[in-house]
Amino acid sequence: MEPWVMVNGRSRELGEVGGHVTLLEWLRGRGLTGSKEGCAEGECGACAVLVARGDRNGRTRWVAINACLVPAAAFDGQEVVTAEGLGQPGRLHPVQREMAGRGGSQCGYCTPGFVCSMAAEYYRPERRPAAPGRDGVNGRHLPDEADEHGPNGFDLHALSGNLCRCTGYRPIRDAAYALGQPPPDDPLLARMAGPAPAPAATVTSSAQGRYVRPARLPEVLRLLATHPDARLVAGSTDWGVELNLRHARAALTIGIDRIDDLREFSFGPGRIDIGAGLSLSEIEARLDSRVPLLADLFPQFASRLIRNGATLGGNLGTASPVGDGPPALLALDASLVLASAGGEREVALADYFTGYRQTVRRRDELIKTIRIPLPLAPVTAFYKIAKRRFDDISSVAVAYAVQIEDGIIGSARVGLGGVAATPLRAAAAEDALTGRPWGLQTIAAAADELARAGTPITDHRASEGYRIAMLRNSLLKFYAEHPAPGGGQER
Ligand SMILES: Cc1cc2nc3c(=O)[nH]c(=O)nc-3n(C[C@H](O)[C@H](O)[C@H](O)COP(=O)(O)OP(=O)(O)OC[C@H]3O[C@@H](n4cnc5c(N)ncnc54)[C@H](O)[C@@H]3O)c2cc1C
Ligand code: FES
Ligand code: FES
Repeated sequence: MEPWVMVNGRSRELGEVGGHVTLLEWLRGRGLTGSKEGCAEGECGACAVLVARGDRNGRTRWVAINACLVPAAAFDGQEVVTAEGLGQPGRLHPVQREMAGRGGSQCGYCTPGFVCSMAAEYYRPERRPAAPGRDGVNGRHLPDEADEHGPNGFDLHALSGNLCRCTGYRPIRDAAYALGQPPPDDPLLARMAGPAPAPAATVTSSAQGRYVRPARLPEVLRLLATHPDARLVAGSTDWGVELNLRHARAALTIGIDRIDDLREFSFGPGRIDIGAGLSLSEIEARLDSRVPLLADLFPQFASRLIRNGATLGGNLGTASPVGDGPPALLALDASLVLASAGGEREVALADYFTGYRQTVRRRDELIKTIRIPLPLAPVTAFYKIAKRRFDDISSVAVAYAVQIEDGIIGSARVGLGGVAATPLRAAAAEDALTGRPWGLQTIAAAADELARAGTPITDHRASEGYRIAMLRNSLLKFYAEHPAPGGGQER
């Protein structure tokens, strides 16, 4: 059967697109020019569209993603809704009506992307009107600065990946906070009651390369064994930037975004297994704050649009020294299950990185699972130092996981990013903490060690001196924020 995509309720032939044609390019090429290209690198959200994704109960969710980053071929057999599919002049969708009525749009370039992100949040099943001072997700009390939910439970962070250059954000927020619940006869709400489309096995090609999405993992591994130069693509939030801005092309792209074996998840006993192909938003929902260190990390990782696509497999696959996943996972003592046609092996994350964007992973292997041992260290934190509070790459990232008993530090793991050619553990600082009292003297000595960790450099994000200062200060902050259990903190 020829590959096809259901767009706004109508089936359209995908055509011979290869792996380099993005969903945005494909949609616009078919006359659906509502979705815009602002940046082509996942930063502005003008290209946001809705896709139908399965939830854990066999139903469907509308999830917003950046169409500028993902290969169109990955949507064979999938359902996509663009701003045109939400509503039309004369019969606007509620989010479009609120945006228009409350002055949320001026030039309109960003608006189709905003309405798609807003619609995803409008349909989020957990969104509930909330009492003041509580969030709309589960009724928790929130500190004022973190309470960015509207009275209708709208999570403003749903719009964190959308930029507007001319309207200003207040009218856009007003529109979001004015939304009610979808009426029972809303067609997109009704669609959510059924299962999401199953992933299709896809083969499509063009003069610029072939795209293959096998149905199952063994086929991926067989393909990788015979084509070790193939490009694996999961959420495509890194690869899409390479495609668009650096014009990278792969002779063979292997889509692994919807392979069941890469989407497994289990919590205990003894360990947490996270499938390398689950999106960060899916992991966040499945963990439900049970790993506080990761709960600290997720809101600081890119935007909701990016997290809806990005995977941990991709974050570790790029092996970037400034990725946010590695420092946190190093502090959690994670290991990786690497799979090839020849079998599987488990590698400690601390032994995984070997040099700048180099790892022990062979070219015929992929990351199948991220494994975190239980029990977790009870005192943890993730500090991301970046130029912007949200949606920015780290200048420095530091993750702490410490166990303190009777005022003595039983174990300490410190993961670092942005201060060397690879993410790394701060071994000397860990030694300076372990077995010592949780007090200022210990912290000061360990902070000196931390300031000597890695080989920080000066680049466009930060100077060497700034990075060193941030390393030191992060430990002082960690100490200030975590008094010894049972009190007795040394001053
Ligand atoms: C606007 C924007 C903001 C971002 N912000 C952040 C941020 O705050 N923090 C951060 O850390 N990153 C950030 N990133 C980078 C990116 O989102 C992450 O690295 C993400 O986790 C990549 O996952 P992916 O599934 O999209 O990877 P893809 O783009 O699909 O793949 C990336 C690389 O990993 C390889 N790969 C993918 N899956 C596997 C696997 N299972 N096994 C082996 N190799 C694999 C691919 O071959 C490719 O080389 C940002 C990116 C953008 C565009
Ligand atoms: S065009 Fe800017 S995020 Fe896609
Ligand atoms: S309305 Fe012009 S960029 Fe947002």
